[in-house]
Amino acid sequence: MTRSVTQGPLQLPIFGSIFQIGSRPHLAFTRMAATYGQVYQVFIGTKPVIIVNGYRAMKEALLGNGKDFASRPMFESLGYLSDGMSMAFGEYSKVWEVQHKVAIAAVQAIMTDKQYRMDDTISTETDKLVQDLIKNGKSEVDPMSHIYESISQITFKLCYGDIGTDAPVKRLLQANHDLTEFQIEGNPIDFMPWTKKLLKNKFNKYTEDCDYMMNVCAKLEYGRMEEHKVNPDATQKTCGALDAIISAYKKLSDEERETDGLTTGHILHITQDFLGAGSHAVAYTLSWCILYMIKYTQIQDKVRDEITRKNGGNIKDCEHLRDFPYTEAVIHEVFRHASSVPLALPHSTTTDTFVHDKKIPKGTIVLANLHSLHNDPDVWETPEEFNPGRFLDDNGNIIRSRINMVKPFGMGKRKCTGEILGRYEVFRVFTRLVQKIKFHQIEGHTYDITPRFGLALKPKDFPARISAISSE
Ligand code: HEM
Repeated sequence: MTRSVTQGPLQLPIFGSIFQIGSRPHLAFTRMAATYGQVYQVFIGTKPVIIVNGYRAMKEALLGNGKDFASRPMFESLGYLSDGMSMAFGEYSKVWEVQHKVAIAAVQAIMTDKQYRMDDTISTETDKLVQDLIKNGKSEVDPMSHIYESISQITFKLCYGDIGTDAPVKRLLQANHDLTEFQIEGNPIDFMPWTKKLLKNKFNKYTEDCDYMMNVCAKLEYGRMEEHKVNPDATQKTCGALDAIISAYKKLSDEERETDGLTTGHILHITQDFLGAGSHAVAYTLSWCILYMIKYTQIQDKVRDEITRKNGGNIKDCEHLRDFPYTEAVIHEVFRHASSVPLALPHSTTTDTFVHDKKIPKGTIVLANLHSLHNDPDVWETPEEFNPGRFLDDNGNIIRSRINMVKPFGMGKRKCTGEILGRYEVFRVFTRLVQKIKFHQIEGHTYDITPRFGLALKPKDFPARISAISSE
């Protein structure tokens, strides 16, 4: 029998339920599920939003009825990204399907085709990060800022190739950082448009950053497209995701290229989605990994021991992670426990649909609470505990079925396009850092793992002392 969706907490005019939701929405939404069930509606400002919690409901919505939940809401602030042509924030449409096909092919290419030098880029930049941390960390260092800077460089180079780190690139990476922070800090403008006046200065800075990023990136993108026309071997010397995107575009059928509404911009600006989506999520996940290793030093030692014992840390590819069961368990426990993108990106329904027999009308905003999935008591024993051992059997082997229940990249049609790259970067950089550096606590500092809230959760600043590990 079809029922209407349960109403969540009382809502006030204009504000909706924002006071009950508070500053950590993923926790409030998880708590509310105990009262209102796994699927319920809240008002955020003036907008009705369906919250989907827990493993079963999320699987039913995003996998079972994937197409029905595959769109994104058209928020005002998102229209400034990539001149309104962003794939990550685009509506589910034929245009998005073509963008998605190109994006997946490009990620696959940079992961497998040596000309994109993905591995060299990651190793070179990670070695610089190691040196940087060692140089600065004898007394006290802030690992997160160094990790962020390094991952931004890696992401930029993976996207556009190595074009040098001159002023426009630095300014570009700063703009990318600032505009994403504006979004991920929980920008209220899209839910309560009247806050735009109050946040005028912040919003203006945000739109300026979007324009700056668009101008610099579009110049690189259209310039590279022209090079490809003149010299089909252009990828030989440049080699970034942008080249892989152009190559994948060329391989589309005529029918796909002529999709109604599709422009060259929709394709080229996928690179900007990669730059935006790639930097923050990877940098924050890695920062969480290091924070947990500082807090749980015995786990840090066990990871290092496994890497050193197995092969001196000479890691070849993502599949190789399977040779490091303890390390794989630790990374997945960080993915689960930190849930660094707790509410995924906002979804919206493409048609009238159902979850748990509850009717959800077309065009409704839906938030998939990945945090609740990662803390679902039906799936996880003592979910609040940080315990990598939950993924290991008595012989220390990985329990694959449990690993597969961890969903930091989301599920279904809109799940992270960069998942294989993201996983690889986290694995590669994390193992290198732990192999080369011992992270020590600073006496007197409490290593608090309560995050700062945002679309992506960031740890609070944490200091560390660092000592180099000399043997290979
Ligand atoms: C540890 C690293 C990463 C994590 C945890 C992560 C997580 C996520 C999540 C949760 C989503 C939203 C899924 C949804 O709405 O249901 C997403 C979307 C996305 N991510 Fe990632 N991501 C990571 C790395 C990357 C990287 C390296 C790239 C770039 C190559 C990337 C590109 C994207 C794109 C383009 C989307 C939008 C997909 C779409 O709407 O079609 N991500 N990511």
